[in-house]
Amino acid sequence: MEKVTVPKIIEKKSKEKLTMVTCYDFPFARMVEESGVDMVLVGDSVGNVVLGYENTLPVTMDEMIHHTKAVKRGLRTPLLIGDMPFMSYQGSIEKAVENAGRFLKEGGAEAVKLEGGKDFRETIRAIVSSGIPVMGHIGLTPQFIHEIGGYKVQKAEKKLKEDAEALVEAGVFAVVLECVPEGLAREVTEMIPVPTIGIGAGRFCDGQVLVLHDILGLIPTFRPRFVKRYENLYAKGLEALKNFVVEVKKGEFPSEEHVFK
Ligand code: KIV
Repeated sequence: MEKVTVPKIIEKKSKEKLTMVTCYDFPFARMVEESGVDMVLVGDSVGNVVLGYENTLPVTMDEMIHHTKAVKRGLRTPLLIGDMPFMSYQGSIEKAVENAGRFLKEGGAEAVKLEGGKDFRETIRAIVSSGIPVMGHIGLTPQFIHEIGGYKVQKAEKKLKEDAEALVEAGVFAVVLECVPEGLAREVTEMIPVPTIGIGAGRFCDGQVLVLHDILGLIPTFRPRFVKRYENLYAKGLEALKNFVVEVKKGEFPSEEHVFK
């Protein structure tokens, strides 16, 4: 398959639906590589999904770089995007450019994503001017959870449209729309020249993103309405582990075929 690049992502708007999944490590990166997905996001959701934090706020730049490097080793074709964690870009524009640069220099990413609308116009402009493509993220922005007051659908029409316009003006190549009513997401998609990638934003976005562990059914406890579980790997994995325990206890594993003579 041909390498996916930022210009190719922009070109596909209104021509072909785009796909993006999150990924956090090497073995899953190899699986994702073979799937034909367009973009891979090393999301700060690594915090809740893989590291066991309560939310994404504790995730550090060093943790993000560590996971981005691992994903990079298993990935060749999809566009690799690093997610800027909480307080890696909010403090100052200089720090934001430096941290965005780390994703490319150290992590091997080809773009970064950051949460926030018009308040981050200048930050995004500075990162883009440094040669680092930026994906925006508006609607529900989990890093601002204490300001928003909970994980809920974002219905403020004027704000979303102004934020989308500001991001485009700052030079983003795509925009994630998270937890937005379908009609509003459709209007924003028709309004801006770059692709919208929806998560809980309905059917009319230019593309869709889901957390890999949600697609595969690796998280047994939590399933928001917008998630489609395509497999139940948690149940399958648990069954395999239980079988291992039983077989060892019974002396059935290792058997003849697993031993050296
Ligand atoms: O971190 C993440 O997984 C994300 C996606 C939900 C877009 O930002």
